[in-house]
Amino acid sequence: MNWDTLYDACMSCKQCRLSETRTNVVFGVGRRDAEVVFIGEGPGQQEDLQGEPFVGRSGQLLDDMMAMIDLNRENTFIANIVKCRPPGNRDPLPAEQTACSPWLDQQLKLIKPKIIVCLGRVSAMYMIRPDFKITKDHGQWFMHEGVHMMALYHPAALLRDPARRPETFVDLKTLQAKIREICTSTY
Ligand code: URA
Repeated sequence: MNWDTLYDACMSCKQCRLSETRTNVVFGVGRRDAEVVFIGEGPGQQEDLQGEPFVGRSGQLLDDMMAMIDLNRENTFIANIVKCRPPGNRDPLPAEQTACSPWLDQQLKLIKPKIIVCLGRVSAMYMIRPDFKITKDHGQWFMHEGVHMMALYHPAALLRDPARRPETFVDLKTLQAKIREICTSTY
């Protein structure tokens, strides 16, 4: 599958019940050849309405976090584990994550990132390992099928609990160091 066929197929997906309540499929945004990919959990209300990931309040904070280390929506790719909004902003169910996984798998096959940054616990448990503990394991590097992976606190968690922001600043510096070490694009 190439990017355009993947996009078209994803836009009309009906593999799970989230398709019944969505306004828009939130495919993802950014470079198709990004070396750094951010993966959140699933669209919220604003993302569902606008069809773009992280455009609400936590998205504003994510933009600010990325800007600290010269990242933005044009030099990375941002996606979610599930592409349609779970009603009431609940966590996506395991069955919904499984139903949606081929889309993200295909995107990552085409993008071939060097670094994947999981945003929050749900994404890290899915991408890195099921027993991932965000309070203990954030900012640590894991290697998965040749890709360097780490997790940050979810921006929504940082909005709720600003006391965690200094730790996230340290994690962002760790990410920046890894980018300087292994990425070839000028970030
Ligand atoms: N939270 C997420 O995990 N993803 C989004 O796209 C928006 C909020």
